Amino acid sequence: MSKPVINSKLPHVGTTIFAIMSKMATDYNAINLSQGFPNFPASSELISIVEKYMRKGFNQYAPMPGVKELREAISDKAEKLYGISYHPETEVTVTSGGTEALFSAISAVVEKGDEVIVFEPAYDSYVPAIELNGGIPIYISLCPPHYKIDWEIVKQKISSKTKLIIVNTPHNPTGAVLSAEDLKQLANMVRNTNIFLIADEVYEHIIFDDLKHHSFMTHPVLQERSFIIGSFGKTFHVTGWKIGFCVAPVALTTEFRKIHQFLTFASITPVQYALAEFMKNPDNYLEVPAFYEQKRNKFLDAVKNSKFTFQPSSGSYFQNLSYKNISNENDFDLAVRLTKEIGVASIPVSVFYHDKTDHKILRFCFAKDDATLELAGEKLCGL
Ligand SMILES: Cc1ncc(COP(=O)(O)O)c(C=O)c1O
Repeated sequence: MSKPVINSKLPHVGTTIFAIMSKMATDYNAINLSQGFPNFPASSELISIVEKYMRKGFNQYAPMPGVKELREAISDKAEKLYGISYHPETEVTVTSGGTEALFSAISAVVEKGDEVIVFEPAYDSYVPAIELNGGIPIYISLCPPHYKIDWEIVKQKISSKTKLIIVNTPHNPTGAVLSAEDLKQLANMVRNTNIFLIADEVYEHIIFDDLKHHSFMTHPVLQERSFIIGSFGKTFHVTGWKIGFCVAPVALTTEFRKIHQFLTFASITPVQYALAEFMKNPDNYLEVPAFYEQKRNKFLDAVKNSKFTFQPSSGSYFQNLSYKNISNENDFDLAVRLTKEIGVASIPVSVFYHDKTDHKILRFCFAKDDATLELAGEKLCGL
C-alpha cells in the first residue's frame, strides 16, 4: 500500500537559521548572540504576579479577544503614548506573540493573487504567511548602512494588485527606525487607496539616542488602515511567554479575530492578568529604552577596537557589524567560522533577503548580561 505524500505548501522553507545557529552555539560552546532573546532574568515582581494569578485559579481559557483588564491596559498605553483611543472591546486583541498577530493580520486581508510589499531584510515569518494565503510578495531591498526606504521605489512597486504593505519599526535585523517624514511619505502613497498596512512595532520600547518611536497610531491616514502589532515578550524580557497584541480599527479587528479565534482561540490567562497589573506602573515600559541603550553601548564599546565597522543601532536589540575589512567570505560561512573558531554565534544578514543578498554583515543580539557582552567583544576583537 502506498503512503500519502505531502505536497508542501512551503517547498522553499527549511530549518530556520536561528535554530541552526543556536544549535551550533551549543555544540561548540560558543556565546550565543544569534537568536534574539535575553539571557538575563525577567522581573521577579512580574513572575510573582503571574504566580499569584495562577494560585488564585485563573487557569482556564481566557476570553477569545483577551482578558478585559489587559485590553484596557493596552488601550490606555496607546492613549498615553500616542494620543489615540482604541476601544478595548472592539479594537484590541491579545495574541500568542507578535508572530500569531502577524499571521492573523496577513490572513485577514491577503487573498489569492494579492501583492504584498515587503521591505528586505525582513523578519522571517512575513513571507511564508503571505504565501500560505496565496499572496505574492513584492520585495523592496534596503541597503546598509542606513537602510532608508526610497519612497519613489515604493511608488513604482505599488500596483492595482497591492493589498498590503508590511513595515517594521524599530527594525529587525538592521536597528533602523522610521522618521515622521517616512510616515508622511507612506501616508501620501496609501491615502484614498484600498491598501492595508501592518505596522510591526514589537520593538516600540527599544529605541535609543532620544529618538522617538513613530507609531502608525500617530498618523490618521496610516492608523485607519493599519494592524499595529506589539509583543510583551520583547518589552518585558519574556520572549518564551509568547504573548503579544494587535490593535486595529473595528472593521479590521473583526476580520482579524475571525482568524485568531481558530488559530489559538485565546492566550495564556494568568499571564494576561499579570501583565495588566504590571502595566499599571508605566515605569515598567518607560525604562526599557535606557536599559537597552546601556546594553547597546556596552557591546559597541566592547567591539570598538575590532576590525568590524558599524552604524550604531537606533532600535531593537540587534547590532549589525560589517566585516568588509576582515574577510571576503560570504556571511553564512563567516558566521559558522566565528562560532566554531572564535566562539561567538551571530546571524548572517543575507538570510533576511529572499535572494540572499550578501552585504558582508552579521547581526548580533545584545540582549545579554554585561559579562557576556564583554567576553563576546574580547573574542571578536581577536579576529
Ligand atoms: C520584527 C519582529 N516581529 C515579530 C516578532 C515576533 O514576536 P513574538 O516573539 O512576540 O512572537 C519578532 C521576534 O523576533 C520580530 O523580531
